[in-house]
Amino acid sequence: MPASAIIPAHAKAVIFDAYGTLFDVHSAVGRHLAAIGPDATQFSETWRGKQLEYSWVLSLAGRYEPFWTLTERALDYAFARFPQIDRSFRPLLLDAYRSLDAYPDVASTLHVLQARGLRTGILSNGDPDMLNAAVNSAALADKLDAILSVDAVRVFKTSPRTYDLVLRSLAIAPNEVAFVSSNRWDIAGAAAFGFTAVWVNRSGLPDEYAELAPSAVIASLNGLV
Ligand code: LAC
Repeated sequence: MPASAIIPAHAKAVIFDAYGTLFDVHSAVGRHLAAIGPDATQFSETWRGKQLEYSWVLSLAGRYEPFWTLTERALDYAFARFPQIDRSFRPLLLDAYRSLDAYPDVASTLHVLQARGLRTGILSNGDPDMLNAAVNSAALADKLDAILSVDAVRVFKTSPRTYDLVLRSLAIAPNEVAFVSSNRWDIAGAAAFGFTAVWVNRSGLPDEYAELAPSAVIASLNGLV
C-alpha cells in the first residue's frame, strides 16, 4: 500500500509524543470540571505549563527527576496558585492523569499504520510506569510496537539524547522516522534532530520556531493516514 503524502515513502516507523498528542492532558481536570469550578480550565493549563517548565529547567541545569514527580509538583503549584480550588481533588486528579482519555483518532490511526507495515511507537517525557498505565487504560498496548521513555537517558525533550533513543531502540536512521507531536516545541526538537516532524495542531495554534519547521501540519491524527 502506498504511504500517505504526509509520511514519506522511505519511513519505517511513526513515533508519537504521548501527552497532548495521544492522550488529552486536560481530560483529568475535565472529569471534575463542574466540581472544580469556574477556574478549572486555567487551573489545568497551569498544571500542564508548570509540568513542562520544570522539565526544561531541570534539563538545562543538568538535573533529572521522573516526570511523575514533576506532574505532582506542578499540580501542587496549581493548587497554590488557585487557593479557591479544593485540595481534596489532588488524589482524584493524579489518578485521572494515570488513565487520561486517548483522543478518538488514536486507535484507528495506529491500526492503519501497522497494517501498512510501519512500526508504531511512543517517545515521551513520561516515565515508564505512567506511560504503561495510560497505554493500558486506553487499550493501546497491541497497537504500539515500542514505548520509549526519556527516563532511559535521564533528560527531557528537547535534548537530542531523547530523540536518539528511537534510533537506538529501533535500529533505524533519522530519515526513516516520522515523528508526530501536538507540542510545537517538541516538533522543533525533532526537526533539529533530523526526523520528519509532523505537527498535529489540534487547536489551531499560531506557528513558532520558524527555523525548525514541521514537514507537515495536520489538524488531527486522521490527517496522517
Ligand atoms: C510527552 C509530553 C511532554 O513527552 O507531551 O509525552
